[in-house]
Amino acid sequence: MSELTKHIVPLKGTMKIPGDKSISHRAIMLGSIAHGKTKINGLLTGEDCLNTIECFKKLGVNIDRNGDYVEIEGKGLTGLIEPSEVLDVGNSGTTIRLMLGILASLPFHTVIIGDDSIAKRPMDRVTIPLKQMKASIQGRENGKFTPLAVHGGGLNGIKYQSPVASAQVKSAILLAGLFANKETTVIEPESSRDHTERMIQAFGGKVTVDGLKISVPGEQKLTGATINVPGDISSAAFFLVAGSIVPNSEITIKNVGLNPTRTGILDILKAMGADITIQNLQNDVMEPYADITVRASTLKGVEIAGDIIPRLIDEIPILALAATQAEGDTVIKDAAELKVKETNRIDTVVHELKQLGANIEATDDGMIIHGKSSLKGAVVNSHGDHRIGMMLAIASCIAEGKTEIKNNQAITISYPGFLEQLESLKQ
Ligand code: S3P
Repeated sequence: MSELTKHIVPLKGTMKIPGDKSISHRAIMLGSIAHGKTKINGLLTGEDCLNTIECFKKLGVNIDRNGDYVEIEGKGLTGLIEPSEVLDVGNSGTTIRLMLGILASLPFHTVIIGDDSIAKRPMDRVTIPLKQMKASIQGRENGKFTPLAVHGGGLNGIKYQSPVASAQVKSAILLAGLFANKETTVIEPESSRDHTERMIQAFGGKVTVDGLKISVPGEQKLTGATINVPGDISSAAFFLVAGSIVPNSEITIKNVGLNPTRTGILDILKAMGADITIQNLQNDVMEPYADITVRASTLKGVEIAGDIIPRLIDEIPILALAATQAEGDTVIKDAAELKVKETNRIDTVVHELKQLGANIEATDDGMIIHGKSSLKGAVVNSHGDHRIGMMLAIASCIAEGKTEIKNNQAITISYPGFLEQLESLKQ
């Protein structure tokens, strides 16, 4: 056995992953503005979702959490009260952008902030349309950056052509539109994840979808619901790639959400030659889910571009790692949105994978990875970005020698227990 194969340990086992982050946020938010009790099973208990809960508690909502089971006493939008404290979203872009849509409907003063990463991320993509609906929003650079002060209420329904395929933008406008004086329509350049549309209907609300055009009538009333949150495919993605690139691995992941607006990772891994089997598909009316098994295989480079990008935007860091282990070039294009995530993910992915010996270069709207390269252990850094931290932890499973990940506590933002679960798969 060579030195390299001696320390590369196959990953084997059956695992359950935490609840979907996007669905968890929306369940807390809609439960908080609905009338009556909401029960959530399988909520993601990562820091981002806990911050969403804290924000609604400050708005006067009673929320009880016991592990991943949550009960919310919804009193409707008009039951929310003016908070005496600042709302703090921590690192969560979904919390701040979707909450802005809700705060825009509230006829009182709120101030919302986040951490250093949030302070650098553009909020004008949401504040511009919300101001068009007549919400008053103030912030640095005319409402582009936090801290943001909002005074809402009395909104006008609008028709908005969004310049970006962003579910956060679409959702903020639709949430504001639920309580506007007339219909609100958002038109997207490409389809983004549709969890908000599905969840509004689960809470008894109305949404119509006509291709890229999504509309909600105004003056709606939502009713509490029971929501079962499936596992997060964006979290499963780390193990789908790990199972593909760590020799002799075989991993089964239970109850993974398979909403078609999120399954770009499966399409790309299959195109790269990954050995992936889907079993026990449950066509749940709200969100489909299934068990996925992945076995190690030989991968080849592909092009990742166009309208698949919004369907896998959060999976690009881990796909870039997969590409370092694929034969030939992988070209990622049309992904400039990566620059405004928790970190500039074009820069952080390219920089950190280079540290490990990958042959990778940044482009204006993506990256090019020349495979296949053998990775070597090094000191690397998550830069406080949970998905970069997890990608590097998977990279360490195939890198020769020791890899040290600085700032790996960021992983708990979306995946508490990730490192322990990864260790438990090592055979
Ligand atoms: C999310 C939408 C995506 C994604 C984020 C979660 C959501 O962001 O990157 O992690 O829950 O709506 P954009 O909508 O800004 O692309």
